Amino acid sequence: MTTLVDMPTTAARSDQLIAASERSTHDPFDEIDWDTPIDDSAFHLPPELLSLYGTEPWEAMSEAERIAYSRHEAAAMFGAGIWFENALMQIVLRHLTEVDVQNPMHRYLLVEVADECRHSMMFGEYIRRAGTPSYGPTREVTIEPGAGGRAMSYLAILAIEELLDYANRATMKGDQLHPVARQISKLHVLEEARHVSFAKTYLTECWPALDAAEHDFVRSIAPDLIAEIVALSLNAEVFAHLGITGGYEIAKANPNYQANVVAGLSKLTRFLTDLGVIDDPQPWIERGLIAGIDTMSTR
Ligand SMILES: [Fe+2]
Ligand SMILES: [Fe+2]
Repeated sequence: MTTLVDMPTTAARSDQLIAASERSTHDPFDEIDWDTPIDDSAFHLPPELLSLYGTEPWEAMSEAERIAYSRHEAAAMFGAGIWFENALMQIVLRHLTEVDVQNPMHRYLLVEVADECRHSMMFGEYIRRAGTPSYGPTREVTIEPGAGGRAMSYLAILAIEELLDYANRATMKGDQLHPVARQISKLHVLEEARHVSFAKTYLTECWPALDAAEHDFVRSIAPDLIAEIVALSLNAEVFAHLGITGGYEIAKANPNYQANVVAGLSKLTRFLTDLGVIDDPQPWIERGLIAGIDTMSTR
């Protein structure tokens, strides 16, 4: 098993990210206007990103029902965000037990955990004020040990961050959307850019140092892991709560939803192709997407 100790490139990037964090760190309880009611005065996500967009149940909804549904999907996305951030904080905290305190990675990874703490508090505040159930995955987080497992873990972090980033960027730019959803999305995009930078730098430095067995391990597990992340991002409880018969199955089969997942993962697949983790992204995306759909159908 490869042991990674120094990682000078990641250490140097950590110094830059610490400086960037000192220049720009955001407190959601100062910067988000929580006095604005989280109501149905506007969509909470861009309509075309909603998993039922364009389907029969969508066409049958009134405008008011579509907006209420968007509030529930946003709450489910933020609920999944809390679960994902909990998982990635556990990954980072485990990693920290192996990082020397003299290495700048040590301080930066603690900054990242502190960022995620604020983000999860922010997502929770939205849900508490949105009048929705507490949507979110409940399953346990499993973490693979060793360098191959750690590469896998940072790949998972990157997948989660890229998927959320795709929805966040579209939401922050939507000037017709609910202002609180937009403010949350903007804050998250600003701080997650640093996390994405760390994960990419770490993986770029780590990948060539892994042995063939570790490469095989990551290559074999990655599509299923990504599929699992995709599956956890769509919550059947939303449709059950709103009484949308067959909504979960219809959403999974919705070509518009599937295209959004592929688009949300496109930066990740490009990065993994450039790094040499995957040769050709198309079959990989399809495997991940199909496996994700299958995983969802068995939940
Ligand atoms: Fe976050
Ligand atoms: Fe993050």
